[in-house]
Amino acid sequence: MPVPWEALIPFALLTAMFGTAGTLLNVSTKAQNQGKAPRYRIDAWDQMMMDRDRRLTGHKRGQKSTTETPEGYKTSSVWYTGEGLE
Ligand SMILES: *[C@@H]1O[C@H](CO)[C@@H](O)[C@H](O)[C@H]1NC(C)=O
Repeated sequence: MPVPWEALIPFALLTAMFGTAGTLLNVSTKAQNQGKAPRYRIDAWDQMMMDRDRRLTGHKRGQKSTTETPEGYKTSSVWYTGEGLE
């Protein structure tokens, strides 16, 4: 069976380009999520939890185990800014 040598260069180019693009997308997505897997099918509850994590840690994927809230946590929300609201 003859080997189509002239087709191997474009085949190699396509493979390399798709591989590079996929790898860069993978690295970029991981970097945006602090090395964790990206979240899919995010609903309103997840949005609220991610906003809470952002206010607690400064990043939507951040987590911490301490029980103290950072300075200004009570008033950093878009929604709960009134006096006396906990
Ligand atoms: C990146 O690639 C690894 C290894 O194939 C895979 O396990 C991971 O799910 C990928 N991450 C993303 C964000 O696609």
